[in-house]
Amino acid sequence: MPAPNPGATAFLQTRRSRPAKTLQMPVPDATQIAALLEMAARTPDHGKLEPWRFVVIEQPAMARLAGVVSDRGAALGLDAEQITKGRNQFDQGLLAVAVIEVQKPSEKIPALEQTYSAGAVCLALLNAALAAGWGANWLSGWPSHDRGFMTDALGLAAHERIAGFIHIATETTAPPERPRPDTKAITSWMDA
Ligand SMILES: Cc1cc2nc3c(=O)[nH]c(=O)nc-3n(C[C@H](O)[C@H](O)[C@H](O)COP(=O)(O)O)c2cc1C
Repeated sequence: MPAPNPGATAFLQTRRSRPAKTLQMPVPDATQIAALLEMAARTPDHGKLEPWRFVVIEQPAMARLAGVVSDRGAALGLDAEQITKGRNQFDQGLLAVAVIEVQKPSEKIPALEQTYSAGAVCLALLNAALAAGWGANWLSGWPSHDRGFMTDALGLAAHERIAGFIHIATETTAPPERPRPDTKAITSWMDA
């Protein structure tokens, strides 16, 4: 018989992001962030390529990133509303970890599997932060897919891209539950 871990299963049955805009100070300190990143890095990684790295964005850097969003939005011809939407997470952000997908050359491991692993790191970090009692939220937005933003804001190389921004701070209120998928409807079984 398997030996369940009741704390872990209770967490997974109830875990819920906290919208970034509802978070407040304080944010985790360097030691606490290091512990969360250790947990996040315990993520399946085919071939042990470590196709990811982290950039911890502290609040003073948020203003610079918001400025880069405005510059990139103007260069891309976006309207004011789109630019504001892209800026919001940096205008309001207290601390975020950018999970960077770092494609490693490999004859054996497809690029897509490296992408999956980077996404898995995002969820692992989100869950680590939530399990540690922080409020946390995985955000993207158009800047996270814009090569100019990646270069100007984070100095990423061509083989790197943003997998996600994981905002981590102190929760204010727990949001109401949101509808969850009907897993029976999306699951089929094969026995032959
Ligand atoms: C790759 C990715 C990017 C996301 N980007 C955003 C975003 O930019 N803005 C947003 O409001 N939610 C975004 N979300 C959704 C939230 O992170 C999250 O799914 C939602 O708050 C519910 O999360 P929960 O299942 O932990 O409760 C994104 C989710 C993923 C997986």
